[in-house]
Amino acid sequence: MKPELLSTVSDDKNLKQLAEGKTKLIYAVEGHNDVVLVRSKNRLTAFNAARQNEIEGKGAIANATTCNIFHYMQSLGIKSHFVGAVNECDFVAANCEMIPIEWVARRVATGSFLKRNPGVKEGYTFSCPKIETFFKDDANDDPQWSDEQIISAKFVLNGVTIGVREVQMMKKQTEVIFRLLEKAWHEQDCALIDMKIEFGVTPAGDIVLADVIDNDSWRVWPRGDKRLQLDKQFYRDLDKVTDEALTQLKGNYQKVADITKKFTTAPKTRVVIIMGSASDMDFANKIADKAKALGLIPINRVCSAHKTTDDALRIVTEYEADFFPTVFVAIAGRSNGLGPVVASNTTLPVINAPPAGADWAAQDLWSSLRMPSGVGCSTVMGADEAALAAAKLMSQHDHMVFGRVLAQQLNNRIGILKADSIAERESQA
Ligand SMILES: Nc1ncnc2c1ncn2[C@@H]1O[C@H](COP(=O)(O)OP(=O)(O)O)[C@@H](O)[C@H]1O
Ligand SMILES: *[C@@H]1O[C@H](CO)[C@@H](O)[C@H](O)[C@H]1NC(C)=O
Ligand SMILES: *[C@@H]1O[C@H](CO)[C@@H](O)[C@H](O)[C@H]1NC(C)=O
Repeated sequence: MKPELLSTVSDDKNLKQLAEGKTKLIYAVEGHNDVVLVRSKNRLTAFNAARQNEIEGKGAIANATTCNIFHYMQSLGIKSHFVGAVNECDFVAANCEMIPIEWVARRVATGSFLKRNPGVKEGYTFSCPKIETFFKDDANDDPQWSDEQIISAKFVLNGVTIGVREVQMMKKQTEVIFRLLEKAWHEQDCALIDMKIEFGVTPAGDIVLADVIDNDSWRVWPRGDKRLQLDKQFYRDLDKVTDEALTQLKGNYQKVADITKKFTTAPKTRVVIIMGSASDMDFANKIADKAKALGLIPINRVCSAHKTTDDALRIVTEYEADFFPTVFVAIAGRSNGLGPVVASNTTLPVINAPPAGADWAAQDLWSSLRMPSGVGCSTVMGADEAALAAAKLMSQHDHMVFGRVLAQQLNNRIGILKADSIAERESQA
């Protein structure tokens, strides 16, 4: 966040209340119409606010959880309204017009789903997350809506009409956001059972994850065991709300804030790019940059399978000694001995990436494809593809890499849907 914006929002005199929800306040920021300040309240609600309690400090914990989640999403490349954290209870967000729909994603059937789908047993697992939509209408207890109802409502927010394409976009975003959170929880030995989110339209016309994600937004079962749940169900299930129960509840919220802080982690895999000649450096750097953006640690090395065979094999041993998850990318023009020689000498994965566009490239390619028996390397054309292939191999060792690959696929899809929307509009103009 820019220092000027940070200092403006840090002074309450520059804030004007715009809206008040059950758990948070939204403020306009003097001189910055494109953003709002979101402030968490010390309030816990259930049954659409029929039950309400103040818990001192709950606002700060909720804010911490929300900021942890948005920070995680941001590092993976998921667009949201989040701009930056300010203090204990506040964060700055893009000033969105909100789409009045709650988007629910479920991995496991439980709770209200069972009531609405009699016959389905608790624990039924959806192989692809189940997406449901509810119109935000407290007076009618947030009725479930079909795609067709959302489209027929013809919502227009910041100039964007919510149609078939936009609904599709939000469904995909909901699914991906669920899978990213599920993966992070899985790393903490917890199962994400279901989740609800909302979207807003930014002044620039982007449909992004907005509002907040905090402990009240999901069901989480430690070790997949419902009895250990860390979500609001505990509060809903209380017969009577006592001080003791509220203290335990606050402890639970703190636990979630502490765990979600661990969602964003530093890189824990590497790609060793070995090239047959320093003249391949530009191509190697393209792969390295892309791999780094996907969350791998890139390392460039130069050696020749033909001219410095012993050095090539020594380099391999340097990356085998520490059990740090590693993938090799071998770049060699002309006769590619490098990738295959390395592959026959190691159990680590090796990807051949012949330098694109070199003389004789079409003929040279065969030296990366026609292998003697017992080698097992793969071949990929192009720097981006090589980096992505390396990232997919490493995604099983690092949930951040998994997340970036998934987010990139989502962003590609959104890009195509947007291009489609522009193409359609311009052809009709
Ligand atoms: N980025 C944003 N820009 C503008 N308004 C927002 C943004 N994020 C959340 N809001 C608004 O904040 C309020 C959320 O408050 P909340 O406590 O969740 O109340 P409710 O449960 O009634 O939605 C809603 O009015 C929502 O539309
Ligand atoms: C709100 O969250 C951010 C990120 O954790 C933090 O910098 C700020 O101090 C927050 N307040 C909390 C939770 O304590
Ligand atoms: C790799 O090459 C080195 C050096 O020639 C050799 O000592 C080692 O046994 C080889 N490893 C494998 C798995 O072939």
